[in-house]
Parts: sequence; C-alpha cells; structure tokens
Amino acid sequence: MTVRIIGAPTDYGQDRRGVDMGPSAIRYAGLSDALSSAGVDAADAGDLAVPRAEERDPDARTPSTGTAKFLQEIEEVTTALADRVADSVAAGETPLVLGGDHSVAIGSLSGSARDAEVGAVWFDAHGDYNTPSTSPSGNVHGMPLAAVLGHGDWEGVEWANAPGLREENVAYVGLRALDDSEREAIRGSEMTAYTMSDIDERGITDVVGAALTVAADGVDGVHVSLDMDWLDPTIAPGVGTPVRGGVTYREAHHAMELVAETDGVRSMEVVEVNPVLDESNETAELATELVASAFGKRIL
Ligand code: ARG
Ligand code: MN
Ligand code: MN
Ligand code: MN
Repeated sequence: MTVRIIGAPTDYGQDRRGVDMGPSAIRYAGLSDALSSAGVDAADAGDLAVPRAEERDPDARTPSTGTAKFLQEIEEVTTALADRVADSVAAGETPLVLGGDHSVAIGSLSGSARDAEVGAVWFDAHGDYNTPSTSPSGNVHGMPLAAVLGHGDWEGVEWANAPGLREENVAYVGLRALDDSEREAIRGSEMTAYTMSDIDERGITDVVGAALTVAADGVDGVHVSLDMDWLDPTIAPGVGTPVRGGVTYREAHHAMELVAETDGVRSMEVVEVNPVLDESNETAELATELVASAFGKRIL
C-alpha cells in the first residue's frame, strides 16, 4: 500500500493562527518513520500552496452575521486539495491529508467521493455540521460536513460537493460539544452519531465497530477524518477548540487499530494540530502514532 502524504497548511477555517503549521509539526514528529513502522510505503507530495491570511482582504475576517469567514480562500484551497486527493485515489494510493483546520475535509471528502460511493467516520468532539446561517463563530472548520452534504447557503461558492457521499454512510464517534441548532440538524439528518456517552456505555470497540459498519455499508471505501480535539486535551493540548472529556490514549489507539482491520480505508485526514498551542509538540507526536495504528502498526 502506498500512502500519499498531502499537506494542507491552512488556518482559514478558524480563529487561531498556528494550525497552518500542522503539516510541518506532524512531519517533524516523525510521520514517515511511523508509517514505515506500520509497513506501508509513504510518498510525500509536499504541501499545497496556500495564500497567507495577511495578503488577503481583512474584511473577509470580520464578516456580517450569517456569513462564513474566508470563503473564497477556503474554496481555493479545498478545490486544489480535492484534485490532489482524487488523483491519488485514481493512482491506486491512499491519500493522507495533513491539516490545517477541519475545513480541509471539504477538499478531502469531495476528492475521495468524486468517482465513487464513500462513507465517512468522523472522530471529533464536534459535529462540524453548522451552515453559515447557524454557525455561532463564522468559522468554516465547524461546517465541512454540511458543506459536502449540500446544506447551507454559501453565497455563490460552489463547493465541489461529494456526490458519492450520503448522510446514511456518515458516522460520528466521540461527539461532546454541539451547538443547539447543530444538534437539531444532526438529529434530523440520516447520519449516525455516537457520543462520548455511547463510548462510556458500550466501550470503544463496540462503538467504532458500529461506526465502521455504517460508513462501509454498500460503498466503495471509507474516509477517516481524525480531528485531534477528539482526544482528551490532557493528552492532545495543541488544538484550537479543546473540549474536556475526550477519549484516552488507549481508546484512541484501539479505535485506529479497528480502522486498520477494515481494509476499506480509501482516504484519511488528520486535522487541527496547532503546534503554537503545544509546548512540546506532543499533539503532533500523538497524531503520527495514531496514523501508524490506522495504517496497520501492531505491537507484536
Ligand atoms: N461548533 C463550533 C463552531 O461552529 C466549533 C467547531 C469546532 N470544529 C473543529 N473542527 N474543531 O464554531
Ligand atoms: Mn473538533
Ligand atoms: Mn440532508
Ligand atoms: Mn472537527
């Protein structure tokens, strides 16, 4: 298996500068060694060219209510990313996208689902299902699932929707921080949502197994979206929107081992690593370990 590393160093989807350094932090933490220890060939495509926020119109940062920040920039980045991901899948590789904030998922998912039916497992504290009109923040990293599933008024921005992704094949794992209207929208959707309470009650093995079954049902492959704020902030402090009560180190590893066992991983992303908020780069290190487990690293 060849894993194609694609860096997407963007922070247009959220307020904290520094998440654009995520791809460097993850590579510096030893990603390629971690992948070789998993027995996969890794090929690094480098980073997408992302325009710097300082060069852009400052008005884009302070939009009126009901709009999303940096929409044009995010459209540019995610369109380029979608092409890279689609090309990688077409070449028989497994693309691994390094964020950047979670808005990059618009590109990874629409690229992965361009010519195929895909499902998605969304490991996250958050639902990321806001639209520009429901978002409390205007930050697009809280909206990527709504965007790719075709919800919301995006003021003329044409997301390359993910035609091969259906709500029925989207499963959340580990939710614990939803906005009120987002909660309503998720309840009214066809998606499956496993919260931290479900993990408390059923255990990580059962919940991740169920999520993978939902995502893989009748599709060609599964996209794995790993937001590092899924983990408890005590072990993953370097994220912009930490939420207490996340999964433990062991739970996270086990979840990724279950991902590896499905054999259906078509594409993956790891997002929201912000080394500026992290004294010793431990969040990026944990990200590399989890990616290695997801691609088949085992203890014995
Ligand atoms: N729900 C909040 C918002 O829309 C937080 C989203 C956090 N998303 C993330 N990918 N970290 O702003
Ligand atoms: Mn999150
Ligand atoms: Mn819908
Ligand atoms: Mn997220």
